[in-house]
Amino acid sequence: MKQLRTLEDLSLEQLEAILYKANQMETALFKQGDTPISVANLFFEPSTRTKCSFEMAQKELGLHSLQFDVGSSSVQKGETLYDTIKTLETIGCKAVVVRHPEKAYYDELDNISIPIINAGDGAGDHPTQSLLDLLTIQQEFVIFQGVHVVICGDIRHSRVARTNANILRKLGAKVSFAGPEDWMDESITQGNVISMDDAVKSADVMMMLRIQTERHGDAGGWSKKDYHDQFGLTVDREKMMRNHAIIMHPAPVNRDVELASELVECTRSRIFKQMRNGVLVRKAVLAYVLDLMEVKTYERAI
Ligand code: CP
Repeated sequence: MKQLRTLEDLSLEQLEAILYKANQMETALFKQGDTPISVANLFFEPSTRTKCSFEMAQKELGLHSLQFDVGSSSVQKGETLYDTIKTLETIGCKAVVVRHPEKAYYDELDNISIPIINAGDGAGDHPTQSLLDLLTIQQEFVIFQGVHVVICGDIRHSRVARTNANILRKLGAKVSFAGPEDWMDESITQGNVISMDDAVKSADVMMMLRIQTERHGDAGGWSKKDYHDQFGLTVDREKMMRNHAIIMHPAPVNRDVELASELVECTRSRIFKQMRNGVLVRKAVLAYVLDLMEVKTYERAI
């Protein structure tokens, strides 16, 4: 069964095919039968971009979205994640999109026979965020080989950092990290830690991350101003960036903490492009798991 729990579920060929199809999704039309296919969206953690872009992707594909409200559901009476999803499968959903605070929550769902699309599992993975980040980098640089991506900030607690570092290395990009020493994680950085000033001078992509206060509460004891001055992409640091270099951020942005407010919509920023790419990638992933498209054979976009 096709699933997307982590990017390990995809061969590099399947991953490239999804990126290729995502690029075509602005104009693609899908044939639908009389009964729309239902997909359930289960968000156990807050979300704006992932939740709304999955809903938009489902709408644009002609699918029916079943919005599952955790707060008014029997989850409040102790229903397990497995029993919730088994119920949705039984009543006719053909796939589920799940964001959950527990890392690798999908490990307890082996007996579910509809595809699970991971919309973020704790500090584990965020595969559709990585796919939209890859699409954005590919649209900019065409190939990944040799592109220097610096991931900056709260590396240890970020599912985006972990997933992106793994897949970008596999695709041949050079991946470095910058940020507070306490938030570096050798299993992610593999020793490639540089200063913020070196980062801005050498990066093709500055990928800024939000401090994940929901996972470690105290923001490391940093005041917003001290953090911004030491580890943020300030207006002065942006001036040191290479001419062609771009700024990315999975958002939400904490303005004037990891990124100066003036830079959120500057010419280098691809933050809002990432969001539209999120719809395209999620359409491509839904089409992939529901077999709405053929992904085994494709023409390379480049
Ligand atoms: N980037 C991202 O996952 O944003 P949301 O938490 O708003 O979905």
